[in-house]
Amino acid sequence: MYILAIDTSCDETAVAITNNDVVLANVISSQVELHKKWGGVVPSLAQRAHRERIDQAIKEALQRAQLELSAIDLFAVTYGPGLAIALEVGVAKAKELAKQYSKPLLAVNHMTGHLYANLAKTKTGQSAVTDLQYPALALLISGNHTEIVLLKGPFDYQIIGATLDDALGEAYDKVARMLSLGYPGGPIIAELAKSGNPTVYPLPIPMRQSGDLNFSFSGLKTAVLHTIKRINPEGQLNTQQTKDVAAAFQQAAITSISQKLTRALTQYPVTQVILGGGVVANQALRQTLRKITKKAGAQLIYPNLKKLCTDNAAMIAVAAYYQWQAGHRLANPEQLDRDPIATVEEIGPR
Ligand code: KG4
Ligand code: ZN
Repeated sequence: MYILAIDTSCDETAVAITNNDVVLANVISSQVELHKKWGGVVPSLAQRAHRERIDQAIKEALQRAQLELSAIDLFAVTYGPGLAIALEVGVAKAKELAKQYSKPLLAVNHMTGHLYANLAKTKTGQSAVTDLQYPALALLISGNHTEIVLLKGPFDYQIIGATLDDALGEAYDKVARMLSLGYPGGPIIAELAKSGNPTVYPLPIPMRQSGDLNFSFSGLKTAVLHTIKRINPEGQLNTQQTKDVAAAFQQAAITSISQKLTRALTQYPVTQVILGGGVVANQALRQTLRKITKKAGAQLIYPNLKKLCTDNAAMIAVAAYYQWQAGHRLANPEQLDRDPIATVEEIGPR
């Protein structure tokens, strides 16, 4: 079946088309340039840009997939979590299309989408994983979420660890701002950290002694700020100092994630650890997590394309395909509403 999916949860206007779980088009209209000067996403600007760009993104996706709208069998949309006024744009458009073409509409949780990015197939049939083996563990790390999820069965999830404050992606972005590096900070810090020495300005490992599976990154963020001020009270660092601080921050963050995943793997022996979300594009993080999972006898799975780690709609279409197979149906598509604080544990609107 042909699925057209829309995600407008944050600052990417994303539209994708799949044939079941095979990605035919994955259009992402990034608003980075728009939000850059503000150092983060401005919701009202995001909403306006989504409105201006959504029709063009749909048109482009159809062109790439060489399909007409009338050929679409199922429409899917992210209903949450995300920015309320941004989500609204995608939800309204998907409802409009489903109604106009008298086709079913499915609502997909954005974090479920990040998980299902791993099942997205290329036209030649390649995917990060062919099927999920339950129980499995998922580590979802994005700009707004940092959570360890126990996957008990299809769409039967339990969050067993989460951040008590900032998400890791958010911490990357804020540290980048402190270092005057631009937005989004994750990829910039990751690049600088490669040639930095993490031992020059050592930082505390967050939540080392917490005895649970939760995370916290606001203390680490504050420690970075104090370190910057200690190096130079004016806050300006030279290139090598910037690289060393970036490396120290990244190392402390990755160590924290690793410690929690190690703990989770002892409590829940699984054969698969599935990564999802923008931050899992980070090579250093993957490398460290690969060692940990290997030691625990599990396989580490992550989307092979960077485009499938960060926000996109292909992951929403693939999740919708699996939801459809599992019998999910929207009782009343016209009443579908966005839910900015939806959690991955909920089965979602049915
Ligand atoms: O999943 P995502 O695209 O959007 C949300 O759902 O939030 O994640 C965006 C986050 C941003 O905070 C960005 O800085 C971070 O992912 N990110 C990275 C990397 N690439 C993107 N963080 C660390 N290393 C990267 N290579
Ligand atoms: Zn995301």
